[in-house]
Amino acid sequence: MAILNIVQEGDPVLGKKCKYVQEITPRIIRLLDDMHETLEDADGAGLAAPQVGILKRIAVIFIGEEILDFINPEIIAAEGEQEDIEGCLSVPGVWGITKRPAKVTVRAIDRKGKTFEVTGEGLEARCLCHELDHLDGHLFTERTVRTLSYEEAMEYTREYNEKKEEK
Ligand code: NI
Repeated sequence: MAILNIVQEGDPVLGKKCKYVQEITPRIIRLLDDMHETLEDADGAGLAAPQVGILKRIAVIFIGEEILDFINPEIIAAEGEQEDIEGCLSVPGVWGITKRPAKVTVRAIDRKGKTFEVTGEGLEARCLCHELDHLDGHLFTERTVRTLSYEEAMEYTREYNEKKEEK
């Protein structure tokens, strides 16, 4: 496995629409493994293939305690609304409040080629929307209703960590 270089905002690769994966080859498996390692190393919530320069519809996202592989993911249901904090490994040092569905269900293929569905709420719903946006060339900064100062962002992060510790 290897830690991949994360592409930063301004690179044209982040604005492109990704292609569907036609076949899960050993190369795709290696990409998934490398993306897992890169996500853990960067301490992020999710990572999409274009962020490592690969224009394929692939993302790895923390759901609960584990990182799931999403190949050719689609949002099949969304309900409610939330406004909360988002950041992106490709846009370091910037946080904003975005408007997203409160709950989303995504259908995707796993690395074994099996179709699965996952439903996320709160942070997981935001993360699913955020990573799927990357596959169509969109960054969260296009969706922010308000940009946060560093202090505000740290306050949000502190609240999340406290909630996590309570569990
Ligand atoms: Ni991102």
